[in-house]
Amino acid sequence: MNQNELKRLVGEKSVEWIKDGMIVGLGTGSTVRYMVDALGRRVVEEGLKITGVTTSNATAKQATELNIPLRSVDEVDHIDLVIDGADEISRDFQGIKGGGAALLFEKIVAVNSKKVLWIVDESKMVDKLGAFPLPVEVIPYGSQKLFERFEAKGLNPTFRKKEDGSLLLTDSDNYIIDLHLGQIDDPHSLADYLDKQVGVVEHGLFLDMVNDVIVGQQLGPVVLHA
Ligand code: 5RP
Repeated sequence: MNQNELKRLVGEKSVEWIKDGMIVGLGTGSTVRYMVDALGRRVVEEGLKITGVTTSNATAKQATELNIPLRSVDEVDHIDLVIDGADEISRDFQGIKGGGAALLFEKIVAVNSKKVLWIVDESKMVDKLGAFPLPVEVIPYGSQKLFERFEAKGLNPTFRKKEDGSLLLTDSDNYIIDLHLGQIDDPHSLADYLDKQVGVVEHGLFLDMVNDVIVGQQLGPVVLHA
């Protein structure tokens, strides 16, 4: 199976976690797209009654087209489960997310969910975080200053751009600065540093957050408990 087939495998497997009546966080990305498609089929074929809480405009559009009822995070009193992808997961279940620039809403939905389930193909499982550039969402005003501060600290920042060369805007009209770190030895202290930088809205280190991971492997999906 190629990477896309592994993504489909875990996306389709993960909807087994969704039970009638649940309020479900719907993540973002190509793996989650398979999950949302499979969820849409369950809604039509089984009459499954769920409420979705989306983490991006892209997922909201897809879910709406599939007639999945949606509420915002502020309109629900709880979220039973969020199913989301990830860019890297270390052996101790820390994660990098935000490859799809949706990390802000993804983190808001994750911290408000009773259970967090990540779905990934096996290439996302790593010994140490950091080969994948760490996304940091920043307010446009003062972002050049923040960029220079990251540069001076040796964090190898780049502004994320669109194909036409203009700066990418998130769903909240912020910029993304990607930090090219190679390896992150101490994710918690890096997260503390980023949390303290004025102008940083949120970063893609998702630490101590996940409960279960479904990993797509050649022999089938494997469920890991954090
Ligand atoms: C979006 C994310 C995605 O979950 C992450 O980038 C994984 O994406 P994909 O499933 O397309 O590999 O964090 O902000």
